[in-house]
Amino acid sequence: MSLNYSDIVLEHFRNPRNVGIIENPDGFAIEVSPACGDQIAVYIKVNLQTRVIEDIKFQSFGCASNIATGSMMTEMVKGKTLDEALKLTWKDVAEALGGLPPVKMHCSVLAIDGLKAAIRNYLGESQEEKLSKEEVINSLTSVLYPSLSMDIVSLKLINYLKITEDGRVIIEILLSEDDPFKNHIKEDIEEKLKKFSEVKEISIKFVK
Ligand code: FES
Repeated sequence: MSLNYSDIVLEHFRNPRNVGIIENPDGFAIEVSPACGDQIAVYIKVNLQTRVIEDIKFQSFGCASNIATGSMMTEMVKGKTLDEALKLTWKDVAEALGGLPPVKMHCSVLAIDGLKAAIRNYLGESQEEKLSKEEVINSLTSVLYPSLSMDIVSLKLINYLKITEDGRVIIEILLSEDDPFKNHIKEDIEEKLKKFSEVKEISIKFVK
C-alpha cells in the first residue's frame, strides 16, 4: 500500500534538517511511540539568560514520517524560547508538512513528545517547577482518539481535571465504558502523565 505523502514530507524525509547528536546537551530525551514502537531522540542547547533554544538535533529510529516530522519540528523551534517551543503542537508540525496520512499522525505526536521531554529534562535540572493544569492539558494534546486522528483535548473529551497537592491527577473522560478505544486512551494518558515526576497517582474515569 502506498501512502499519500505531501511534497514537503518527501523533501524533509530525503533531506532532513538538524539530524545528529549534540555533545553535552542541556536537555535530552528518547521517546517511544506507544502506537508503533518507533523512537526519536532529541537534544537541545538552551541559552540560560534568554531561554532560547540555540541548537536542537534529533535522531530517528523509525519511519519516513518520523524523520520528516522530527526535521520539521526542529526547524520550527530552533531560535525560539522554551515557552514558545512548549506551545508548538503535533498539529502545527503536521500542517507545516502539508498534512500527513491519518495513520501517520502519531509520528507528529512522537516528534512533539520528544521535544517536550527534552525541555522537561532541561527544566528538571535547572529549576523546580510545580506541575500546572496547563502542563497536564498540554501533554494530553498528544493523546489521540485513534479512529479520528484527533487528540482528546481538541475533541473536548476532558470533562474534569484536578491535580491535588499530594500529586494525584484525577481526570474524567467523556467516553462510555463500552468505547472500543477506552483502554488504549487510558494507557496513553497514563504513559504521558507518568513522565512528570510530580505525578504520584493517576485516576481516570469514563463518564459518558
Ligand atoms: Fe510510528 Fe511513524 S509509524 S513514528
